[in-house]
Amino acid sequence: MASRICDSVLVTGSNRGIGLELVRQLVDSPTPPVQIFAGCRDPNGQRSQVRNHANTIQKSLTYTTSPTSIAEASKLVETKLKGKGLNLIINNAGVNIPGSLAETGKQEMVDVYTTNVVGPMLIAKDFHPLLCKAAAQFPHQTSMSCSRSAIINVSTLLSSITTCPENFSVSPMYPYRVSKAALNMLTRCLAEDLKKDGILVMSLHPGWVQTEMGGPKAPLTTAESISGMMKVITSLTEKDTGTLLDWEGKNIPW
Ligand SMILES: NC(=O)c1ccc[n+]([C@@H]2O[C@H](COP(=O)([O-])OP(=O)(O)OC[C@H]3O[C@@H](n4cnc5c(N)ncnc54)[C@H](OP(=O)(O)O)[C@@H]3O)[C@@H](O)[C@H]2O)c1
Repeated sequence: MASRICDSVLVTGSNRGIGLELVRQLVDSPTPPVQIFAGCRDPNGQRSQVRNHANTIQKSLTYTTSPTSIAEASKLVETKLKGKGLNLIINNAGVNIPGSLAETGKQEMVDVYTTNVVGPMLIAKDFHPLLCKAAAQFPHQTSMSCSRSAIINVSTLLSSITTCPENFSVSPMYPYRVSKAALNMLTRCLAEDLKKDGILVMSLHPGWVQTEMGGPKAPLTTAESISGMMKVITSLTEKDTGTLLDWEGKNIPW
């Protein structure tokens, strides 16, 4: 029997797009996680596509720009885990305001940074005790993996400072690129900081995907992107902590 990706996972921004497909494929995996926490900012709203699924998926209200919402979500998850730790957080919720230099002002920069960087930072902070608990409960105390304890920050190729000259003219996107480069630094800082706790932290680029954000011209369906991401997620070890990989497992230069 295939081994389980992990016992428990929180996916933020799982209303639609990549987050929704992540939850779907986690549920449909041969040995699904026992508990999947689907973070949605409006779990009962009309746009919410994620559905409660037997006991496996539990929707939690996670408005990732609100410290109160994050704190409440961590309490709810802690209660549902009944003394166990949380193995995996996928910080998927994100926004993009396509903005050239002329179109970008303070508000655009701050709004996108708040969702794409401050949210994942606060989530890491509030859920840190639960991740530590999961890491401590793992039998192989020296190894790192998503089945033990990990944070995956969903980043993008457009965050890469090295490859910016190759793709800047097609997608200028100042707020988005700058925020995701900062998210990568958050990944690096957390990877260093949480090594001592046995928590793996990495950034993952899903490819260019057909979602509201990616648009209809994107070459990848959510199903294709996420099935690649799942293979990467299951294969991660300590050598991958602090890296930026794409949905096929290829390294992207910072
Ligand atoms: N699509 C691509 O080609 C592509 C490429 C590279 C990276 N990415 C990254 O992949 C991730 C998912 O993108 P996507 O294409 O699935 O985007 P999407 O279709 O626009 O979906 C974004 C999701 O994030 C949620 N969200 C946004 N702001 C939030 C907040 N403050 N609190 C909680 N949830 C929030 C949205 O919730 P609501 O439903 O409530 O609006 C939605 O569920 C993002 O981090 C994005 O940067 C996407």
